[in-house]
Amino acid sequence: MSAKVIVLGNQKGGTGKSTLAMHLAVSLVWKGYTVATVDVDARQGTFSRYIENREKTKQLDNRVLMPFHTPLLESGAASKVEANMENSEAFTKLLHSLSGYDYIVVDTPGSDCSLSRIAHSFADVVITPVNESFVDLDLLVHVDGSSATMLKPSIYAEMVWNQKKERAVRDKGQIDWIVLVNRMPNVISRNRQEFEKILLALSKRIGYRVATGFKERVIFRELFLSGLTLLDRDVISAQTSLSHIAARQELKDLLRALNIADAYSSLASGVSS
Ligand SMILES: Nc1ncnc2c1ncn2[C@@H]1O[C@H](COP(=O)(O)OP(=O)(O)O)[C@@H](O)[C@H]1O
Ligand SMILES: [Mg+2]
Repeated sequence: MSAKVIVLGNQKGGTGKSTLAMHLAVSLVWKGYTVATVDVDARQGTFSRYIENREKTKQLDNRVLMPFHTPLLESGAASKVEANMENSEAFTKLLHSLSGYDYIVVDTPGSDCSLSRIAHSFADVVITPVNESFVDLDLLVHVDGSSATMLKPSIYAEMVWNQKKERAVRDKGQIDWIVLVNRMPNVISRNRQEFEKILLALSKRIGYRVATGFKERVIFRELFLSGLTLLDRDVISAQTSLSHIAARQELKDLLRALNIADAYSSLASGVSS
């Protein structure tokens, strides 16, 4: 399969998975890639609603480019084994039908479920946004407060490890696991320094790498209703503020961490900073 699969995952809601999924997918579309998006969290459906809102905006302005979107619901089968089989079949069938795309961006729910595990096992890249809080970090790795060392991996970290094994057995492929801090408060605190130190220190043990994160910015919340992203704003409304430019830089850094080099700077003329 030629498509590169990017999965947004973290077994916690509200960390920014759906928002980042949308921003990534749209960045890739603007770059000229063919992009399919999959909402494995279709019951909550934030990603699908974001795309629906975008579809409506596109009807008013055809400069808005769309990824090809599919929501996927968990199997309703009564037995776990049967549900897992059905989910696995549905997901592989969907991946197969999307295999000609350049990228497939998958959003997953903030809880453990079979479809999400299956999606992780097909990932080339897993991106886990966490909020700058030791409560969030605890959902990634249990840390000893006095020595700042790992006590044990979290259930989510174990799940990613298992899916890495699953992937290796299936096709000898590797999953590149990226953790980033999202919604960073604008004030630098001792908490942040401590948090970032521990996040970095544990990366090797847990098997992720840390990418530049995103600050807390109102614009991320405002864009949902129009279905637009930071990049569209450049093209469509040409409105730019300092905060906007800084946010674009964060996005550019993420694309670079994903080895989508220069994706941002080679966008339509006048778009890049
Ligand atoms: N960098 C950010 N700055 C401000 N608000 C953000 C940012 N990223 C996400 N949000 C907001 O945080 C909330 C949760 O984001 P969402 O993408 O739905 O998370 P998840 O999919 O992990 O549950 C939403 O209200 C969203 O608009
Ligand atoms: Mg979500």
